[in-house]
Amino acid sequence: MGTRFDPVGPLRGSLRPPPDKSISHRAALIAAMGDGETPIEGYLDSADTRSTLSAVKALGATVVGADGGTIAPTITIQGVGLSGAAAATVDVGNAGTLLRLLPGWLAGQPRGSWTIDGDDSIRRRPVDRIAGPLREMGAKLSCREDRLPPLEIEAAALHGIPYEMPIASAQVKSCLLFAGLLAEGTTWVGEPLRSRDHTERMLAAAGAEIAWLKGGVSVRPAERIEPGPIVVPTDFSSAAFFIVAALLVPGSEVALEGVGLNPTRTGLLRALERMGAELEVEPVGERGGEPTGTIRARASALGGTEIPLAIDELPLLALAACLAEGTTTIRDAAELRRKESDRIATTCEALAALGAAIEPTEDGMRIEGGAELRGGAIDSHGDHRIAMLGAIAGLASRQGVEVEGMGAAAVSYPGFEADLASL
Ligand code: S3P
Repeated sequence: MGTRFDPVGPLRGSLRPPPDKSISHRAALIAAMGDGETPIEGYLDSADTRSTLSAVKALGATVVGADGGTIAPTITIQGVGLSGAAAATVDVGNAGTLLRLLPGWLAGQPRGSWTIDGDDSIRRRPVDRIAGPLREMGAKLSCREDRLPPLEIEAAALHGIPYEMPIASAQVKSCLLFAGLLAEGTTWVGEPLRSRDHTERMLAAAGAEIAWLKGGVSVRPAERIEPGPIVVPTDFSSAAFFIVAALLVPGSEVALEGVGLNPTRTGLLRALERMGAELEVEPVGERGGEPTGTIRARASALGGTEIPLAIDELPLLALAACLAEGTTTIRDAAELRRKESDRIATTCEALAALGAAIEPTEDGMRIEGGAELRGGAIDSHGDHRIAMLGAIAGLASRQGVEVEGMGAAAVSYPGFEADLASL
């Protein structure tokens, strides 16, 4: 039996979404690379970020404040130092970010060997984009069919390289920056488009020699890093569900507070504004080196647009486009096929099942908006963002939506249903 989400009256109120998943992963890994104790305030309690805490423990770090059922408001990680990761078999669970970031740190260790594996869905997530450049740096690693987990890594001496990513990826960039900390010489990672930059911000704050130059970012080798206390802002990608819900449910007005506003994450706002969304963004200050603020969203009449973007929030943009007047074309988003599910396929399948006129294209989708969303049943395919998409679609539909596999939401947002109910 699935979970039902029925049409509702106006959504009202304010909400503080959960801490940022990307930043939490990085906080735990970078704290583990430090020599001393690093307090992390506001670490996300989710399945994926718990996998990262288990991983750093397996590598020899000590984690205080996350032993029982809940994660304390501030946890403390006693690191092992940049070169001190213990040999281990690491289970990354469902966490693609952990799968891609961790090898960068391990590949340059002075001794040891590691196996990195995860659940069934992780075993279908490619690692060739990190394996290629890591090997160019001297890494010794092998994987199944040369592109899939499990990944076997052996300690090796690395040298820095300039690496121009063919496709912008924050995971690949972060992996190579971690490897660069342990490599001889400078490592430079160029990107065709700016991907999220949390890793470089956090490494720079920890004293690493990070420089932004020529459309990329470089790192120099380090003896040690000193992360200092880390504060995790709330997750823009989680806030996004309520932003879109407020736009689509007539009469709604919702404020999301303390939201991370890093410009490498807020492409959704710019796309929604082009569609006519009534949004107000009020910057409040910085938390942990990341800009944060309040986002207010009001129910709005939307129009179709062209969206040339590959972001985690595209399923939500597709939903908004179904209810907007006119045609929306999403392109240059082939990357979505490589996420927790093939999100071009799963988004189109889900929204079409609810009565939307949506068709996949090779690198995106085409949506004829303007109709009501009838409702019906969808399957999350184990993808947290598709599960939450179904919930928001239910609120904005005529007959409600039943989501099969709603449990997937816990990967990034265990309290999602309760927070939604609070509005
Ligand atoms: C992430 C980067 C993004 C994003 C993913 C999380 C990260 O992927 O889709 O959910 O934390 O680095 P890319 O590597 O394609 O940028």
